Amino acid sequence: MDALRLNPGGGDVAFDFGGRRVLVTGGASGIGLTIAARFAAAGAHPVVVDVDEDALAAVCGLVPGATAIRLDVTDAAAVTDFAAAHGPFDVAVNNAMICGDDDFLSATPEQLRREVDVNLVAPMLVTRAVLPAMVDRGAGAIVNVSSINALQHLGNEAYSAAKAGLQSLTRSVATEYGRHGVRCNAIALGTVDTPYWSERRAADPGVLDRLERWYPLRRIGTPEDAAAAVLFFASSAARWITGAVLTVDGGFTAGNLRMSDDIHGERRD
Ligand SMILES: NC(=O)c1ccc[n+]([C@@H]2O[C@H](COP(=O)([O-])OP(=O)(O)OC[C@H]3O[C@@H](n4cnc5c(N)ncnc54)[C@H](O)[C@@H]3O)[C@@H](O)[C@H]2O)c1
Repeated sequence: MDALRLNPGGGDVAFDFGGRRVLVTGGASGIGLTIAARFAAAGAHPVVVDVDEDALAAVCGLVPGATAIRLDVTDAAAVTDFAAAHGPFDVAVNNAMICGDDDFLSATPEQLRREVDVNLVAPMLVTRAVLPAMVDRGAGAIVNVSSINALQHLGNEAYSAAKAGLQSLTRSVATEYGRHGVRCNAIALGTVDTPYWSERRAADPGVLDRLERWYPLRRIGTPEDAAAAVLFFASSAARWITGAVLTVDGGFTAGNLRMSDDIHGERRD
């Protein structure tokens, strides 16, 4: 029974990626940094790219054996040059993101385009850059970090549309390149405790208590929860899984008892 209770957000999922080169975009912060750290702990050589130079400078101290490189993943020429210089990669994780707070009607067209660029066009550019070497070698795993915002509207129109597109891209790549030994899967994350939420908690100490009630497992996710799913998809344990989108959301999208409670005047805290 204890074994079933293990891993309440801890890093106790074991995989072996000995000698593998793993690209993690947006890996200098939050979930990407933990993904890189878990791959390193499993024997991989993570190559972390990001635009945040201060955060990048800290990566090698935090992730043993990692390489940290400044790369704007929306810059097509730079992405191509990067892959030529630092590939081939066994695994690529499309994780970089921006998510604007602007109201849909007042956001500028440039802001909307930038959100789609970082969250959808960049994964296309990165995928196109790493794919030829994966195809040549007859093996490779691509994992896209999507969001439950792609499945139901929770705010952030452009971000959500881009994350839905990323799920479609996942199926396209899986279908086109499966015969070459390349797998492509995605995770759709619920709320994960990253620096973004630390800031919100500092401003509003009750925010997590209110939020956690919406999650059947009664907590929001940790970066370790997200990383465990990414490593699973990249691993040989997922060798016959491609084109899948796995919700990693503490059950948020499984159902909505709070709606039922509202209707029946109950409260199941
Ligand atoms: N935190 C959550 O609650 C949550 C929920 C659902 C999905 N996600 C997804 O998880 C992933 C990681 O999110 P996070 O919370 O760790 O975010 P984060 O903001 O902490 O990290 C994103 C990283 O991407 C980098 N980045 C932004 N634009 C870039 C560009 N053009 N080129 C290269 N790097 C760039 C940023 O500098 C940052 O380091 C994202 O794909 C996000 O959509 C997060």
